[in-house]
Amino acid sequence: MRKRVIAGNWKMNKTANEVKKFVESIREKVPASEKVEAIVCAPFPYLAKLVEDTANTNIKVAAQNMHFEDSGAFTGEVSPVMLKDIGVTHVIIGHSERREFFAETDNTVNQKTKAAHHHGLVPIVCVGESLEQREADETVQHVRNQVTEALKGLSEEEVSQTIIAYEPIWAIGTGKTASSEDANEVCREIRQVVKELTSEDAAEKVIIQYGGSVKPATIDELLSQSDVDGALVGGASLEADSFLSLVEAGT
Ligand code: G3P
Repeated sequence: MRKRVIAGNWKMNKTANEVKKFVESIREKVPASEKVEAIVCAPFPYLAKLVEDTANTNIKVAAQNMHFEDSGAFTGEVSPVMLKDIGVTHVIIGHSERREFFAETDNTVNQKTKAAHHHGLVPIVCVGESLEQREADETVQHVRNQVTEALKGLSEEEVSQTIIAYEPIWAIGTGKTASSEDANEVCREIRQVVKELTSEDAAEKVIIQYGGSVKPATIDELLSQSDVDGALVGGASLEADSFLSLVEAGT
């Protein structure tokens, strides 16, 4: 049985005081369960203190992006070395908003995914189709291509330690959640690609999340699906009680 991974992607939200209050209200309540892993994906300015404030809890801390170089003349960027140095454990890579607004490509996603593993960070690699692609029945081929490109050059072990988040773009922030059957079908296809690229063992181990308007009211049905191992949640993760409900659904 794969563990469930429930990650809250705060995107570009919260003040330092709001982060402090969020952690204070959940730190003792996140269930100590081998079955579920809770991750908060925070903006860069809050990461170091978040790592400190969540020490000895069941809450992991993720960045929402990173560069793939270790250091250098990349003004404004943050390296995997820096994230590892402050105790961050996971990093979102290739979110559709970065692909849309910040020139993220399949190639940079692959370079960042390799760099994350090289530095002992767990990448949460985002893939997903646009509404046009879904309506043109191009979803499966598009997502298969994104997964294949993202995992190029990774060892079987690295692939098995990668988290892949299927986030249909048309469901992000829209209130439109993919049906659990549709979500599961694409997650199953993603697992099949992993099997074709590496092995049955790696395909069984890889964690595949769904993201796109996940709410406490909809997460149970999603998690009941055979190939959905968790959720990457935006809006519904911003409020502490809602995030806790999402995590508890994974236990
Ligand atoms: O990364 C998760 C995010 O894209 C989903 O956002 O608000 O639809 O849950 P939301």
